[in-house]
Amino acid sequence: MAKDPVRVLVTGAAGQIGYALVPMIARGVMLGPDQPVILHMLDIPPAAEALNGVRMELVDAAFPLLKGVVATTDAVEACTGVNIAVMVGGFPRKEGMERKDVMSKNVSIYKSQASALEAYAAPNCKVLVVANPANTNALILKEFAPSIPAKNITCLTRLDHNRALGQISERLNVQVSDVKNVIIWGNHSSTQYPDVSHATVKTPSGEKPVRQLVSDDDWLKGEFITTVQQRGAAIIKARKLSSALSAASSACDHIRDWVLGTPEGTWVSMGVYSDGSYNVPAGLIYSFPVTCNAGEWTIVQGLSIDEFSRKKLDATAEELSEEKALAYSCLS
Ligand code: NAD
Ligand code: LMR
Repeated sequence: MAKDPVRVLVTGAAGQIGYALVPMIARGVMLGPDQPVILHMLDIPPAAEALNGVRMELVDAAFPLLKGVVATTDAVEACTGVNIAVMVGGFPRKEGMERKDVMSKNVSIYKSQASALEAYAAPNCKVLVVANPANTNALILKEFAPSIPAKNITCLTRLDHNRALGQISERLNVQVSDVKNVIIWGNHSSTQYPDVSHATVKTPSGEKPVRQLVSDDDWLKGEFITTVQQRGAAIIKARKLSSALSAASSACDHIRDWVLGTPEGTWVSMGVYSDGSYNVPAGLIYSFPVTCNAGEWTIVQGLSIDEFSRKKLDATAEELSEEKALAYSCLS
């Protein structure tokens, strides 16, 4: 029997991530090839004409899974009945801008959209915040949508996770799909900690630790980490625009694994509400290694954290605590 359609909200849908993301959702990349979807697309009035253009293209592409499109500049209409909300809308960082420069603009956007989701989204709506500062926008959204369970509000660090997989695959000249269990800890910013302490590569003679295969520890503790941390800035420098196709694809990965589950023995990185695991302060949206099953994520427990890693986990937590304080100061 055909499944009922799932309503997926994409805010900022007329922007460049939106333009890459909505066809992926309509093709089943996010929720699977047998899951019909109804797309809800929100943008602001100056982008209304462009948004209508995206709507027309979705009609023209004749996606079999796409059962309807709502294209609107009204947050209430956009949020009504949505099961999944991908929050891409916001003010993007431009070349030379620090992420903190865009904080106050985004805090007020996330406060008002939280209220619309709180009042009008379907029960148990799952939320993924992509727009920067992603962790802190998600925290603001959680604060102003108190009836949405905290575990339903997440932010995107899967792009950083995928970037880390890509760097290891290039370094070792192996298929990216054979590399797994990297971890992104903390903030989606240049303080994030891409950690390969527990990562492995599938080889003809079994799974081997990345640390054994990459003999150059200096590279793993230096250039590898900074390349992943700085990748977003490198893309902006090269394209004069922030990453879009990789961000859209990673957003699909995030929701797909959350809803449909992670493969056995594999974890992924998600920005989730901290419960104090790994001595990360509770009450931050912090990226952890998680496994997903039956639509729920669980932080992977019991991983060893050496002294080098501990400092990095703490440094990115410290930045998130500062961002949280800054965000709250923008609210007053
Ligand atoms: P963009 O400027 O092309 O698109 C943003 C869209 O949001 C625009 O169409 C704009 O009109 C719209 N918008 C602005 N305010 C809005 C509001 N209040 N409600 C609804 N829509 C609104 O930007 P982009 O390149 O698509 O990037 C979007 C965001 O994603 C940026 O904040 C960017 O920094 C962030 N980003 C995050 C990651 C990640 O991994 N977390 C990766 C790449 C980009
Ligand atoms: C990215 O990681 O590509 C983006 O978050 C960069 C940015 O600041 O938009």
